Amino acid sequence: THRILLDCDPGHDDAIAIFLALSSPEIELLGITATHGNVGIEHTVRNALVLTQLAGTETPVYAGAALPIIRDPIQATRVHGKTGLQATGLPEPARAPESLHAAQAIVEIVRANPHEITLVATGPLSNVALAFRLDPELPTLIKKLVWMGGSTTYGNVTPSAEFNAFADPHAAYIVFNSGIKVHQFGLNLTLQVLVKEEHIQVLQAINTEVGRISAELMGHYVQFYRERYNLDGAALHDPCTIAYLIDPTLFSGQEYHVQVDIQEGPNFGRTVCDYWGGQGPANTWVATEANSEEVMSLILDRLATLK
Ligand code: BDR
Ligand code: CA
Repeated sequence: THRILLDCDPGHDDAIAIFLALSSPEIELLGITATHGNVGIEHTVRNALVLTQLAGTETPVYAGAALPIIRDPIQATRVHGKTGLQATGLPEPARAPESLHAAQAIVEIVRANPHEITLVATGPLSNVALAFRLDPELPTLIKKLVWMGGSTTYGNVTPSAEFNAFADPHAAYIVFNSGIKVHQFGLNLTLQVLVKEEHIQVLQAINTEVGRISAELMGHYVQFYRERYNLDGAALHDPCTIAYLIDPTLFSGQEYHVQVDIQEGPNFGRTVCDYWGGQGPANTWVATEANSEEVMSLILDRLATLK
């Protein structure tokens, strides 16, 4: 099993990633560290508490960075709504977040379990960068870092930048230059994994709170993708990271040298992948192909096992 910490900004696709992690025996979710991102930190913390509660667990939730390292904060309320979860009848959180800051929690949990923790990040990398600054040896003590963010091709918030990279480019810069190998699931990969109307019907038919709420979230998500991108489905970005840990054979990828552009201008926040090589040593395993149908079946099958 993978013992993981999930750093996220729930968020519709983050929500599915949390449900997938909590329904999979291959994954032991030690804690969720929340970051600003899709919506403000007060919402992402609350959403993490509510989602774990719906899944019937008491996974510790740590509140993290309210702001990016340098740039002004941005949000994705257009995609995820004002609160980050566009679903009706969500319960009130029955628990409070832990008192430790998310960055401090990453340091303490990794230090207590050296070389054993897989860190999965599905939002801006602010908490991870802060943890690496608090404890510069941390990159050598993490078993594996898997991140949804960036792109080898075009972006989604700007022509060149993906949201999680653009929301805190300096944090991404710190992480990609920390010496750790990043396992990157960028837009070039995640746009291959689309949740469609037919999948929403399967979620609905599960006939549980998790199924109903997931179906409602995905309904809004698919609608946004139709209006904004004219696509017949919405990219299930964040769950790809968890699906990869559950079954790495569902994906293929290659090692590249990746740099993060922190110059303000049209490429601000772009993850620049050195496709032909020669610019520096490979610091990133870049996911390039997904077996989309299998990834979707895995997600639907696993979510159906939650109460
Ligand atoms: C990423 O941005 C967020 O809106 C999603 O949750 C995902 O992590 C995709 O660009
Ligand atoms: Ca996210």
